[in-house]
Amino acid sequence: MTEAAAAQAPAQQKTGGKPSYDWIRARIAQVPRVKIAITPTPLIEAPNLAKHLVPSGDGPRIFVKRDDLTGVAFGGNKLRNLEFRLAKTMEDKPDTVIVGLDLQSNSARQTVGACNKLGLRTILVLEGQRPAEVQGNLLVDYLLGAEVHFARDRADQRRLLDELAAKVKAAGGRPHILNDNPMFDVASALAYIETTIEVLEQLEAENLKPSCFYMSSSGKGQAGIVLAQRLFNAGFAMHGVTATSEFDVPSRTADIANQTARTLGLDIVVKPSDVVNFEGFVGERYGVPSEAGNEAVRLFARHEGIVLDPVYTGKCAAGMIAHVREGRFKKGEIVVFVHTGGMPAIFTWNKLWLDQTA
Ligand SMILES: Cc1ncc(COP(=O)(O)O)c(C=O)c1O
Repeated sequence: MTEAAAAQAPAQQKTGGKPSYDWIRARIAQVPRVKIAITPTPLIEAPNLAKHLVPSGDGPRIFVKRDDLTGVAFGGNKLRNLEFRLAKTMEDKPDTVIVGLDLQSNSARQTVGACNKLGLRTILVLEGQRPAEVQGNLLVDYLLGAEVHFARDRADQRRLLDELAAKVKAAGGRPHILNDNPMFDVASALAYIETTIEVLEQLEAENLKPSCFYMSSSGKGQAGIVLAQRLFNAGFAMHGVTATSEFDVPSRTADIANQTARTLGLDIVVKPSDVVNFEGFVGERYGVPSEAGNEAVRLFARHEGIVLDPVYTGKCAAGMIAHVREGRFKKGEIVVFVHTGGMPAIFTWNKLWLDQTA
């Protein structure tokens, strides 16, 4: 949002010294957006899982924020941020979106689904080789009609993005390279301020307050929850659990939160030390399922009928489960697990789920 637009946002409505949800929503509404995701997503209690983890009944209540149900191409967290990113993209009036991502990217799948809704053609440049058997997100990319190319590494990916854009242009098309869209980080944070407001409202409707959020996080969405924490002084902890050791998530989260605060004209500064993110549940490395993560996937499925994935949400759930088992939460405290999607990875790792005794 420009400073002029920020000045036009409604005057801050204070409720007990905090801005109201409508005030922050109005600020976010100044940022251009196209409607893609189905929101608000449901918040569902998981009583069987809670009872299984603490059979005495002395444990917390667990609620699952179903951002896997955002409604396009198996859903997930990225559909929320694509509303802002693709609004920016549409300013260029493209007919083709070209994007470079990982081979089994949830983001790629959701981008193709969202572009389909907007009537845009999608070209994917995925890092990796086409596998002998096409499964998971990659299979869905093909089903959604994306033109798929494979890149050896990041440099090859960049070269292909530019080459394909030039080719589309030469054929009279209007390409847009989504990797060059500057909105990714801030869009995710804006989206997860909104998700947090949804959760707070959903709990308030039942006279409940959250003690702690858990979300699979490499920093972007978590930045939004951290900002909401500060904005509404709501007294809950935010526990991000990373699926990768590739970067320092707290400093990345703080950077994105501060960039987003500036975009919204908010007087908030987040320090890396304000951010809690657990790196201990990555397992061997990014993209490789872990024992604890796989157990978490099975527990959610078998006690609540909720399908997680072994790459992101399962590892985050492993963190939450470990903390609940350690007794970090008192009886009746409210723990919110944000399900960020990723279910197609279940099929990529199909052998993991066949053992009924595990
Ligand atoms: C299922 C899932 N959960 C969580 C994340 C991490 O989200 P963020 O980049 O907003 O931290 C991703 C990122 O790709 C994801 O696919």
